[in-house]
Amino acid sequence: MSDAQRHGAQDHSNPAVTTRGRRTIPQGSVARNFWTYVERVSGGRSLGRFLLQGLVLTALYRLPTIAGAILRAFAYRLILAGIGRSCVIEEDVRLQIPGRITLGHRVFVGQYAYLDGQTSYLRLGNDVHLARFCTLRAGEHGITVHDGVGINTRCYLDGNGGLEIGADALLSPGVQVITGNHVFSDPDTPVRFQGTAYGKVTIGQDCWLGTNVIVLPGVTIGDGAVVGAGAVVTKDIAPGAIAVGVPAKVVGQRGLRVRSV
Ligand SMILES: CC(C)(COP(=O)(O)OP(=O)(O)OC[C@H]1O[C@@H](n2cnc3c(N)ncnc32)[C@H](O)[C@@H]1OP(=O)(O)O)[C@@H](O)C(=O)NCCC(=O)NCCS
Repeated sequence: MSDAQRHGAQDHSNPAVTTRGRRTIPQGSVARNFWTYVERVSGGRSLGRFLLQGLVLTALYRLPTIAGAILRAFAYRLILAGIGRSCVIEEDVRLQIPGRITLGHRVFVGQYAYLDGQTSYLRLGNDVHLARFCTLRAGEHGITVHDGVGINTRCYLDGNGGLEIGADALLSPGVQVITGNHVFSDPDTPVRFQGTAYGKVTIGQDCWLGTNVIVLPGVTIGDGAVVGAGAVVTKDIAPGAIAVGVPAKVVGQRGLRVRSV
């Protein structure tokens, strides 16, 4: 394995591999690491933006009670890409690169949520409810959550390959949507240095994903589909279908009785 691979250089030998090897804390000087940190948390090398963001977040992110929520909804206008009216952001919400995060009107973000704009964007539409302990990582292609979506506690959403969730969809507790696979084709190179292959995930409007469903890269779940608790979705699911199991198989259609698995 070359030094370039070890330090996360892009692999151009395989066009299907769309990302770099995994990075760790760089070995550079303190000054260089400082600027890397600035870029990682604020999305650029502007010291002014970094300091403003730090000031606003440090002053407000832990402030309890509804007063804290009101103050945050007001002051976070300074650091988010956009925020609509009447949003509620609970205390202890961690925002990474808030300049790439947009919240619509009346969005609720529960305590201990972690929102990371990374190298793309997070866009949450109007009336989105994001319960406590959720993690949304925009990755390289971003996450779009349309109006009225409910994301229950401890969901993990990854936007590396791109993720779109249609209006009024419901994600039950613990749902995980994964949009990238580690490449492992070369048995002589550690998996962590072989890059990642992405696949966009689309979850249609009015879908319901049960507790602890896992959705794998490249999958489209059609409008109105229901996925039973604990399922692992490896292939597309047709609109209105009911799917259960590992791997998820269609066992019925909404409006008709569920057949035996
Ligand atoms: C998929 C689901 C919606 C189907 O509900 P339903 O239409 O009432 O279906 P039934 O309970 O009548 O079950 C029908 C068959 O599917 C099986 N089945 C139901 N849910 C299953 C699941 N999650 N995984 C595997 N099999 C399942 C049942 O065992 C039954 O099999 P059988 O016919 O051999 O006895 C439901 O079982 C489910 O998983 N709900 C998720 C609950 C949840 O996560 N709630 C969180 C709310 S925030």
